[in-house]
Amino acid sequence: MAVLPINQAEEKIIETVERNPVVVIIGETGSGKSTQLSQILHRKGYTKSGIVAVTQPRRVAAVSVARRVAHELDVPVGEEVGYSIRFEDRTSERTRIKYLTDGVLLRESLSNPELHQYSVIILDEAHERSLNTDILLGLMKRLVKMRSSNLKVLITSATLDGEKVSRFFSNCPILTVPGKLFPVEIVYSRERPTSYIESSLKTALDIHVREPEGDVLIFMTGQDDIEKLVKALEERVQSLEEGSCMDAVILPLHGSLPPEMQVRVFSPSPPNCRRFIVATNIAETSLTVDGVVYVIDSGYVKQRQYNPSSGMYSLDVVQISRVQANQRAGRAGRTCPGKCYRLYPSFVYREEFPEVTVPEIQRSSLAGSVLYLKSLDLPDIDILKFDFLDPPSRESLEDALKQLYLVDAIDENGSITDIGRTMAELPLEPSLSRTLMEANEFGCLSQALTVAAMLSAETTLLPGQSKGTEKKRKHAPSNLPDGSGWGDHIQLLQVFENWDRMDYDPRWCKDNDLQVRGMMFIKDVRKQLSQIMQKIAKGPLDVQANQRWKETQQDYRSLRRALCVGYANQLAERMIHHNGYRTVGYKSQLVQVHPSSVLKTDENGMLPNYVVYHELIATTRPFMRSVCGVEMQWVTHILKKLEKLDIDKLSGGIKPSNERSNREEPLDLQKKDSDAVK
Ligand code: CDP
Repeated sequence: MAVLPINQAEEKIIETVERNPVVVIIGETGSGKSTQLSQILHRKGYTKSGIVAVTQPRRVAAVSVARRVAHELDVPVGEEVGYSIRFEDRTSERTRIKYLTDGVLLRESLSNPELHQYSVIILDEAHERSLNTDILLGLMKRLVKMRSSNLKVLITSATLDGEKVSRFFSNCPILTVPGKLFPVEIVYSRERPTSYIESSLKTALDIHVREPEGDVLIFMTGQDDIEKLVKALEERVQSLEEGSCMDAVILPLHGSLPPEMQVRVFSPSPPNCRRFIVATNIAETSLTVDGVVYVIDSGYVKQRQYNPSSGMYSLDVVQISRVQANQRAGRAGRTCPGKCYRLYPSFVYREEFPEVTVPEIQRSSLAGSVLYLKSLDLPDIDILKFDFLDPPSRESLEDALKQLYLVDAIDENGSITDIGRTMAELPLEPSLSRTLMEANEFGCLSQALTVAAMLSAETTLLPGQSKGTEKKRKHAPSNLPDGSGWGDHIQLLQVFENWDRMDYDPRWCKDNDLQVRGMMFIKDVRKQLSQIMQKIAKGPLDVQANQRWKETQQDYRSLRRALCVGYANQLAERMIHHNGYRTVGYKSQLVQVHPSSVLKTDENGMLPNYVVYHELIATTRPFMRSVCGVEMQWVTHILKKLEKLDIDKLSGGIKPSNERSNREEPLDLQKKDSDAVK
């Protein structure tokens, strides 16, 4: 195996780590930060006094790097080298090197705030600036003070502004590991193409026909585009005259791909064969694909952006930053000189692209993170003044407080409640953890566990529900249950229960166009959630299997009521004349039920007056996804709480500096009229 740049700097790294509690390590993608640092520290005895933890912002990377390291050390995964991601723990008593997502490490620090089991914590891929890594950076700062004698913290990055992080950690040393990047020729397009899929296709074929051997890495924005391009490329490559060019293999690479498909990109291409890897920005820095000589960069990325004044997410295709563009280009020069085809003109790169990507903490809903920080009970931590590398806006912190107040996780003074503490222990977003707790009171915990598992599985289960599309489902509801008209949560429950009745037969999933692997995972997630509930719930639990099939309307009603409590902050009221709903508790706006929903009108042709939704997302227009009808009498309590809401009190009496915008405002019907579904 070739010696990686990190290995060449081994002595210097060890020397610096020995002398300093915190070290920033900057190294080019592929220099061996993720796979080698942990092994170097292991060899130097750092695993004798504790485990070496390496955090990854992405689940895929945690699993794939752990596998790689286990392979290099010739041990089975889960023994000396293991990984832990949400709902999947592959570690044992013997584990000395542990890869884990940043979210899992945060969660671990709830039950063990000093993280005593670890001798070294490596925050890897810090340049990704994920929400959880940013919070960990703040927590590490406190932790090194408390454990300065027996904890080392390493922060690694491919592109991060090392100076800034170093300043954050009292000017800790920065080690820059020189990478060996070959020159990459940049080829700009004269203008922006009308379709970047078409343009990528054409460029890829040109390379295949004209350029010498070497794999091609194509950056697309998301799964849908990747699938389209893979299909088109396959067709076009097949139609090329036999013998006119070398063979081709076309591989997709994105986060929702099954692991066995993901690892295919790590095996080298067969002789006389060119690989085309069509990837999301996961291949920018998270996963290093060797053998790439040509990069095609569309210049776009799909980015989730949360708006705290409307409670809405948008999934926008936005321009990448210059840092990202350079990372993408760098992928072409790892093994020999390469070429990067930018499907945009050079002035766009210079003048339109932002310098760096906005960190996730400044474009996410912070309810889960704030609840987590509150539950840590750190006496010196005031949420609004928490030491963030880049602080979120006051507005989004206030939005988080409001959300938590509405689900009873904090009281009117902003102090965490018993309910909030229990919620924080569940590895779920606040709405779902609150639903589970309420469902336990209403005798429908078993059903709520199923719904929470179905919504948390992070796989696209039902046909036509891929994120970001607005396609109507192709097959449903012909074979699958339809939620009895009440909506998507009830449907999710019914789907699982039907499968349960079939003794979890994989053939049933196939017959119904459901992913077998996804359903098995959900079953496992449900089991885990139920075990956690057993551990933390104070009163008796109602998760009996024989209770599960009580498919009565009464049962659904209890579940809907529990959902209404959990989703108190995701409530919408029917606007009959506008054929839609308006959100409650936010700057009012007209929203529609997503076309994939199974929510139905009643016998009078009416939709429910109130619904709760799992997510509000703006694609071509604002849509509520995963919707469930609720009753007026349950909503009254929420409306009362909203009336009483005093954001100054919630945030500890500090007057906000910017305009408060999370109060109800009258709906501007005139303007919104055009948005209504015709
Ligand atoms: O973290 P960094 O980007 O610096 O590098 P790395 O992920 O440790 O990758 C070092 C080398 O290991 C590269 O050549 C990768 O292609 C390879 N690797 C692999 O073959 N399989 C993995 N799952 C991860 C890395």
